[in-house]
Amino acid sequence: MPLASLRQGGDTDDKVVLDLSTCVNPYGPPPSVIDALRNLQSDVIKRHPFSAPAFLEETYANRLHVARDEVIAVRGASEAIWQLARLTDDLHVSVPAPTYTEYVRAFPESSTILGAAPWHSIEQLTQAASLSDVVLFSNPHNPTGRYLEAATLAELFDAHPQTLFVIDESYADFIEDAAGASIVGCDATNVIALRSPTKFFGLGGVRAGVLWTRSNEWRERFLGLRTTWPISMIEARLVAAAFDDLAWQLESHKKLADDAVWLDGWLSQFTGVGVVGGPLHFRLVTGETSLVSEHLAKRGIRARELETAHCVGCPALRVSAPRKDLRNLLD
Ligand SMILES: Cc1ncc(COP(=O)(O)O)c(C=O)c1O
Repeated sequence: MPLASLRQGGDTDDKVVLDLSTCVNPYGPPPSVIDALRNLQSDVIKRHPFSAPAFLEETYANRLHVARDEVIAVRGASEAIWQLARLTDDLHVSVPAPTYTEYVRAFPESSTILGAAPWHSIEQLTQAASLSDVVLFSNPHNPTGRYLEAATLAELFDAHPQTLFVIDESYADFIEDAAGASIVGCDATNVIALRSPTKFFGLGGVRAGVLWTRSNEWRERFLGLRTTWPISMIEARLVAAAFDDLAWQLESHKKLADDAVWLDGWLSQFTGVGVVGGPLHFRLVTGETSLVSEHLAKRGIRARELETAHCVGCPALRVSAPRKDLRNLLD
């Protein structure tokens, strides 16, 4: 399969009645973001955004409780992934499977490390680390939503000081106790974390995020790729407005947890499929996945079919829970 043809979840046409192929929080964006957009001062639009990277870095540093100079603003986790590909051209990169589409596209020469299960384990990551210079994976994991605790990962970083671990934490905000799920702020210097507001806050159209690392060397390399105005101030302001809306975040965690329980119940009607449980609002379904996708397709609903390049090892479908008010569309 040509890698360039790999489509992402959420890449659907307008005819879809309901898109369950995306992991973006269906309750987003928070009302605070819409208010911020409506109340934008014209100056923010008129001026070139010289101070936007610093503003976004400060906003993230406060949220993550780390020093501002350890954070670098990027145009979403995606930009950091492609920048990493440029910076590691001469290094051996491993991608534990199953994995996220963009890694497959950005690192066509990488080694795929299979595991015993369709989620990441320390054994799998240890094998990847012992074989390569760089290990790239998501935690929480796309496509299962499972995650390894920060304390467990810290031992892995210590055991492999020569390996650079790049951990895509694009889904960390979905975890209520985000501290336990995030390695941001750990002592290791062989770690880069990617953070993005786009999934949990429902801001897929906002191209903003950050990377965090204690390594001066890696920060300098990423900054070396920076263009004059890497971030729009409009987008940076929207991210700040989303972070400020604490009540919405609390409410979203509750709603998504309830939706995940509902999704498990709904999936249990299909015999012949396996469902990988996890703490997020989407499920990886394996086995007779065509039963589920055909049921959904008849109703104009799209789920995410994973391709061979994702290396699940069998037919696999990722389905996100519908919003509570749209559940009846699945019946
Ligand atoms: C694991 C993972 N990383 C990154 C992204 C994209 O992040 P961003 O919107 O910040 O570019 C996605 C989007 O689906 C994702 O699933």
